Amino acid sequence: MDRIIIEGGRVLNGEVRIGGAKNAALPILASALLTDGWNTFSNVPNLMDVESINRLLVHLGASVESTPGTVRINAAGLNNSEAPYDLVRKMRASILVLGPLVARLKRARVSLPGGCAIGARPINIHLKALSEMGAVLELKGGYVEATAETLRGKELFLDLPTVTGTENIMMAAALAEGETIIRNAAREPEVVALAGTLKQMGSLITGAGTSVITIQGVSSLSPVSVSIIPDRIETGTFMVAAALTRGDVLLKGCEPGHQNALIDKLTMAGAKIQTEEGAIRICGGDVVESVDVKTLPYPGFPTDMQAQFMVLMSVANGLSVISETIFEDRFIHVGELRRMGADITVSGNTAAIKGVPMLSGAPVMATDLRASASLVLAGLVAKGKTEINRVYHLDRGYERLEEKFARLGAFIKRVKG
Ligand code: EPU
Repeated sequence: MDRIIIEGGRVLNGEVRIGGAKNAALPILASALLTDGWNTFSNVPNLMDVESINRLLVHLGASVESTPGTVRINAAGLNNSEAPYDLVRKMRASILVLGPLVARLKRARVSLPGGCAIGARPINIHLKALSEMGAVLELKGGYVEATAETLRGKELFLDLPTVTGTENIMMAAALAEGETIIRNAAREPEVVALAGTLKQMGSLITGAGTSVITIQGVSSLSPVSVSIIPDRIETGTFMVAAALTRGDVLLKGCEPGHQNALIDKLTMAGAKIQTEEGAIRICGGDVVESVDVKTLPYPGFPTDMQAQFMVLMSVANGLSVISETIFEDRFIHVGELRRMGADITVSGNTAAIKGVPMLSGAPVMATDLRASASLVLAGLVAKGKTEINRVYHLDRGYERLEEKFARLGAFIKRVKG
């Protein structure tokens, strides 16, 4: 298993190019199942999760061709309605094939993803919506089995604005009979990106980016060429790294409009941020001020940036409070950060962070994707050597993170094997 070794204390300076968004790529690649013929997706990040969804699409009968940055998918051969446990357990976003399979094949057998390191993560809202649209669902042997002779558009209310739930329903509704209205829909940019793709395929869909999305079902959709939007969490991770090391970093190929919540908090913490179309420049302040944060659905502060922001608060001037309201168990990084000298106390979904003058390097263990990113950030600012194990978590969602940090001046390297 690969490890990442960091000698902390370098100031980050220079330019970095942001890649395509993992969480936009996954539903968009799955949406190719709704069409016959070759779809071409560009700006696709080279990540383990992307490989996993491609492997699943091939398993379902689609043809997939990948070259660096581009994935072509043709689902004309779609003939298998089963997403097996072995593929789903590697990546819970595999659940994104449920909506397209029910819409195209009128049936699906998809392994239930189960919980993961950050929470129980049920899919009851996805299932309730499909059932209201006419699918008959059964849970058997760890699988959800769905059949739907006819999927009918319906007015749906989501208990929570689930991101992949909204995406699954949009894809099912695109080929359903009649009109579907999703109330309390997720408003994340990745939902908007999927809606844009579906629209280009010929779907009649309005309201994406607001909490009410309306989809008029059509009988068939056409293949498309789509470029994946920039990854706002990769962007945010580099922004925090610049603030943390008191660096001066220019991020290119990103979308500043997706970063309002983070820009606000980083500015309060003392960083100087300038934006222009497709670029963000961030200079760290001399002192990191403490700032309270509460994670919320978009456009609130993203849960996927909580662990990284906590590292910044670990070296802030004073006490900050971070509340995690999206996932019930997303403080697993705290134990490792404490081993690096952070002063953090957790009570329920709230962490109180008392800034310390300095973190110190230590061997640490990555436990999930964003927790791993936070350990890299901690290593960048810590005194001495940090060794991060189980880097495969990081590789699920960040493309060549260590190379990008090294080009900005960090002393960081990957040790293979
Ligand atoms: N929830 C339910 N029932 C459902 C669906 C969700 O109770 O049927 C709950 C979840 O347990 C959670 C909350 O609703 O407490 C929000 O979950 P959501 O469904 O929105 O999350 P997701 O769609 O499974 C996506 C991202 C996550 C990101 C969350 C929140 C993808 C592939 N994943 O997950 O990304 O944290 O939205 O923004 O888009 C990551 O990239 O590291 C990651 C975990």
